[in-house]
Amino acid sequence: MSESLKGLHRTHRCGELTTSDIGHEVTVCGWVQKIRNKGGLIFIDLRDRSGIIQILLNEETADKDLYAKASGIKQEYVLAVVGKLEKRGGETNDKIATGSLEIIPSEIRILSTCDVLPFQIEDETNTREELRLKYRYLDLRRSVLQKNLLLRSKVAVATRKFFSENGFLEIETPTFIKSTPEGARDYLVPSRIWPGKFYALPQSPQLYKQLLMVAGCDRYFQIARCYRDEDLRSDRQPEFTQIDLEMSFVDIEDVINVNEKFLQYLFKEVLNVDITLPIQRMKWIDCMNNYGSDKPDTRFDMKLVDITEEMKSTEFKVFTDAVSKKSGAIKGINVKGQAGMPRKKIDALVEKAKECGAGGLCYLAIEEDGNIKSSFTKFLKEDEINNLIKKLGGEKGDLILIAADKINIVWNTLGTLRLFLGKELNLIDEGKYNFLWVTEFPLLEWDEEENRYVAMHHPFTMVMDEDIDLLFNGDAGKARAKAYDIVLNGNEIGGGSIRIHQPEIQSKMFDCIGFTKEEAENRFGFLLEAFKYGVPPHGGLAYGLDRLCMIMCGSDSIRDCIAFPKTKDATCLMVNTPCEVDEKQLAEDHISVRSEEH
Ligand code: AMO
Repeated sequence: MSESLKGLHRTHRCGELTTSDIGHEVTVCGWVQKIRNKGGLIFIDLRDRSGIIQILLNEETADKDLYAKASGIKQEYVLAVVGKLEKRGGETNDKIATGSLEIIPSEIRILSTCDVLPFQIEDETNTREELRLKYRYLDLRRSVLQKNLLLRSKVAVATRKFFSENGFLEIETPTFIKSTPEGARDYLVPSRIWPGKFYALPQSPQLYKQLLMVAGCDRYFQIARCYRDEDLRSDRQPEFTQIDLEMSFVDIEDVINVNEKFLQYLFKEVLNVDITLPIQRMKWIDCMNNYGSDKPDTRFDMKLVDITEEMKSTEFKVFTDAVSKKSGAIKGINVKGQAGMPRKKIDALVEKAKECGAGGLCYLAIEEDGNIKSSFTKFLKEDEINNLIKKLGGEKGDLILIAADKINIVWNTLGTLRLFLGKELNLIDEGKYNFLWVTEFPLLEWDEEENRYVAMHHPFTMVMDEDIDLLFNGDAGKARAKAYDIVLNGNEIGGGSIRIHQPEIQSKMFDCIGFTKEEAENRFGFLLEAFKYGVPPHGGLAYGLDRLCMIMCGSDSIRDCIAFPKTKDATCLMVNTPCEVDEKQLAEDHISVRSEEH
């Protein structure tokens, strides 16, 4: 039977013992990471969240019963160990902080035993993620994940400290709200009291934080859970956390300023990394033209170069059609030193380009001897080829890739290839933190499916002062928004905007995105009503806390920074949900489930 802790009090965490504790009696508790029996010597590595300490029992000197008890101990048993801390007699281990110490125990209590493990608990693991997620509590014992949780906790503490000290009130907003889908799908919660009616879980606290500004709260922040029913990726979860904030009587500069100071503070506090301010800014259109992405990774170059003017009047139909028939563009990237890239790899790039919607991808390799190997130069005159190479800064040994299509497809194709090649060719300095503000986003984007404009950020985002007239004179598609994203190493870690606070502009905005007065009233009536009673100009921003932590941990999946994440298909393998519920529960919620194949 397992023993109790009765009468014992832990004196130290395992990894916190130091040479200054040598000679003292200590009591530690933890899990058995490893146990080795080497002819008369038993070594136990005891682990808790702070690290590992070695316990040593010598058959010749240890109490007989104690030695026998230790012989029966297995991996992941939970122990309390009382003993004297000593300098290691045998080899020291430089890899761990307590590598020169060991405890010579006088008492060991087996607090809990452990069945055969479904997988070994070690940092470098090949275990399938599904299995690790099923036993997440075991997975979380691994020190990499323990470190991630510790970092996340520090981020939350530093966030609260910074914003509280800068005049922000931490205010909770509800998680049962009105469904106002725009962007992702809502998760719905049925009402038992109101048959056929539903709450929605918030995609963000957006409307509530705006109402808090109407309420005179002036500066608000919250570490808020958000829920979005959207297709998942490695940086998306159906439920995730935002550091959400809103400020009254501000314009773009004020929001950016306070957030730059926050990021500087956060990185210093948590990682001891200095961020130089001000953070670089780039207009959305320049991001797209230079990097083919609105969240560019600026840690490496390989910028997109526009060659539309130079190539639009050539004899090459792919180029000319892109411009004349699709009103598109012709752009290229120069992959330095890659002229020798094997055909197979180039074919794979062409496939990637097709996945991005492009009809194909043109390439031109300038071989070391100056010869040109290319898929399309036979259609060009010599001076056109030279022009193209010059514009792209081509030198011997370079590989030039060109996409010609509608502008969105060209951006997406070359942006995707640039990022892929940056990683593939090791062009990215992983030790860098490159922040970037992306500004002047378009206010609206055209939705092909719905055949209407939709708000690029959300419908409450203010148009830039210089572009207000465009909304009213039928050129709304050209208007830019007072919206900004904060990008870190190619990840959108946050986004926000200045909001519309004038009713005339708000109703024009609804007009532009095809909402009738009734529809707007139906969905957002409560906000529009509130805005009748004195509303301060306001704006804010929200960070994706999980994404921020992912980058700060040096991980490439947000699942590594969330204690209990969902899988890519939005399930939790540990508690096995979503799951069916019994008929009684369904009946109480007035729900009947259609038996439909899906
Ligand atoms: P937005 O929709 O840009 O803005 O979200 C803000 C940030 O939240 C993170 N994020 C996610 N993280 C994990 N999983 C997801 N599914 C997910 N979706 C978004 C991103 C993103 O930058 N209310 C506005 C903010 C504002 O205007 O103040 C909003 O929610 O890092």
